[in-house]
Amino acid sequence: MEVIRNSRVMQQSVKEYIHRGNSIGFVPTMGALHEGHLSLVRRCREENDISVVSIFVNPMQFGASEDFSRYPRDVEDDMAELRKAGVDILFMPVAENIYPEGFATYVNVEHLSDRLCGHFRPGHFRGVATVVTKLLNIARPTRAYFGQKDFQQFLIIKQLVRDLDIDTETVMCPTVREADGLAMSSRNQYLSPEERNAATVIYRTLCEAKEMVISGKLTPVEVKSLMEKTLSAVPLVEEVQYASAFDPETLEDITSLNVTIYRKKNILLAIAVRIGKARLIDNELVEIAGIKGGNER
Ligand code: PAF
Repeated sequence: MEVIRNSRVMQQSVKEYIHRGNSIGFVPTMGALHEGHLSLVRRCREENDISVVSIFVNPMQFGASEDFSRYPRDVEDDMAELRKAGVDILFMPVAENIYPEGFATYVNVEHLSDRLCGHFRPGHFRGVATVVTKLLNIARPTRAYFGQKDFQQFLIIKQLVRDLDIDTETVMCPTVREADGLAMSSRNQYLSPEERNAATVIYRTLCEAKEMVISGKLTPVEVKSLMEKTLSAVPLVEEVQYASAFDPETLEDITSLNVTIYRKKNILLAIAVRIGKARLIDNELVEIAGIKGGNER
């Protein structure tokens, strides 16, 4: 595995691979790699000639009171995992290389960036969109891979790729879960054993809500209040930031499951909660076309 720390060197290296007709697959990460990241890497390797992974804890996407300084970093372990996984290039720039003195250009995807997590983390998606645009310009991948756990991030990246004519296919891969359903996340490391146990309520709530939607028993408004109630019943859940059904294209709230009103095939059930020092998110996409009773609501 070649380790590149400079964006110009990285650009030169991929240029040569592209010139030789190779496809480039890219997995951008902030490190502290877990099985979720490694599943993206495997898919990336399967579908491309050359696999590139980046590790960069992007300061621009963290708010002043957020966890940038304590975000888990384990470069040695990460490198060992990526070597074992057969990655060709690891791009690991320093912040000064990505944001040199005088840096003044930002990418802001309107509307989508203000909803859900954007409401609780102002500026976060501007930071994500800016760094991902830069990373795509540097690595020039044929395909870039992202996890469904960060569904809103994926929508925003898809939009910026389209709007800015970036020649990359964006691929969303399934969320990887622990045996008890908790979505894998680098931030799970912040949880004490009791908090880790409490966090299982997130996936349980999504499954319960999905079941209610599929059986046609509840309206979206009732689903929202059921989700909030289930999450709030766990004392270690300190804050439910959102828990509801959303339109998976616009992230607007859904008020009806009547397909003639709603006109879409899927809904997004999504949750963000605070447990201890961790802010955890998760989601499920639910197909509603043809569900029992769903068309009547
Ligand atoms: O999902 C992440 O790890 C980050 O938001 C990303 C896409 C690497 C940008 O910093």
